[in-house]
Amino acid sequence: MKRINIGICGLGTVGGGTFNVLTRNLVDINSRAQCDIHIAHVGARRDNPACDTSEVQLSRDIFNVVADPEVDVVVELIGGTDVARQLVLNALDNGKHVVTANKALIAEHGSELFERAENNGVTISYEAAVAGGIPIISALREGLAANKIEWLAGIINGTTNFILTEMRDKGREFADVLAEAQALGYAEADPTFDVEGIDAAHKLVILASLAFGMPLQYNKVSCEGISDIEPADVAYASELGYRIKHLGIARFIEGQGIELRVHPTLIPASRLIANVDGVMNAVVVKGDAVGPTLFYGAGAGAEPTASAVVADIVRVARNLAGESTLQAMVPSLGYASDALEDYSILPIDAAETAFYLRMSLEDKPGALSQITQILSDEGISIEALIQKEPHEGETRVQVILLTNRVIENQMIEAIKKIEELESVSGSVIRIRVETLK
Ligand code: HSE
Repeated sequence: MKRINIGICGLGTVGGGTFNVLTRNLVDINSRAQCDIHIAHVGARRDNPACDTSEVQLSRDIFNVVADPEVDVVVELIGGTDVARQLVLNALDNGKHVVTANKALIAEHGSELFERAENNGVTISYEAAVAGGIPIISALREGLAANKIEWLAGIINGTTNFILTEMRDKGREFADVLAEAQALGYAEADPTFDVEGIDAAHKLVILASLAFGMPLQYNKVSCEGISDIEPADVAYASELGYRIKHLGIARFIEGQGIELRVHPTLIPASRLIANVDGVMNAVVVKGDAVGPTLFYGAGAGAEPTASAVVADIVRVARNLAGESTLQAMVPSLGYASDALEDYSILPIDAAETAFYLRMSLEDKPGALSQITQILSDEGISIEALIQKEPHEGETRVQVILLTNRVIENQMIEAIKKIEELESVSGSVIRIRVETLK
């Protein structure tokens, strides 16, 4: 069998997982790839005690790996965007195929890297960049290639899903659960990437470009995190028959463009995706031919992510061993690069969703009717309402509302007026609601 030499850059959580999965399952992997995949060179600043690298060439300088003439495929697993970008560009310029798990790199520099790869007659694969072990990239590029994708919605950050699940099941506070997620190794090096939605935005932009055939536009994603979600909102959502999930949503709106948004969302508890808990990820993709499909699995962790990295290695090695031409390989975003459409990315204030509202209201006659009057004046209908009795000795009540679908701007106007009322104290909590039908 033809030998394909792999160079792995980075031997941290994902690098170590990739090294171990490749080594452990090599016989099956080689049978699937129909070639002899060989780890020829590993670049890592320090050893990983979980990996036995005694039989491979090891460099402390990762750039030695991309310069190694023996290496056919460079696997970039160092993370970050500056050094990783340079490393990948060097690899491509040296005529090597690249496999990466780096979502930030693809989301922010993908267009430049794909073009460089195409010019050099090589490929970049990035299955592990989104939703860890779930093969959602190849599903969008290949399995769903027959479809016009209408929308997709995903739980694509395990850390935020873990936090929201713990808040709901155990009534725990946000900060307390985040500390545990960091200790368990789910969170990014800078956990604001998780909790403020940046990690999910990186992943969403990749999914949307594959789904709709458009250039990567990370700077146009509208992004909100979960740091303002309180245990009370998680509990009221449950009482109303909903779950709060941190979703990345991309929707094609005929004649207008694409919605690209990441935010906490109430979804009916009866939806399958509403029951995806803990650190697990899931993506619903609605295609015009197939209808709704759900992809579920581990979105983080050494071996689940390695599963996707190795799948890319197999695909590239198989093509190399079969001497496929670049044209025979699937293009980076699933569409020929000159066929990508520059759709408009729609502003979030024009998005139409239903809303969950929570406010603290003075317990006096007419206070609630002022709220309902403002909503009615804005053409907003109330679908459900909960009012809690004031606690002993208190004069304020919590009022929770679910509205019909309205344009976000309309809701912002109504909320401004509600917050000006004397009977309302503090800000109105507002969370978008989606039925995902
Ligand atoms: N921090 C990420 C998450 C890791 O929590 O999903 C996987 O990208």
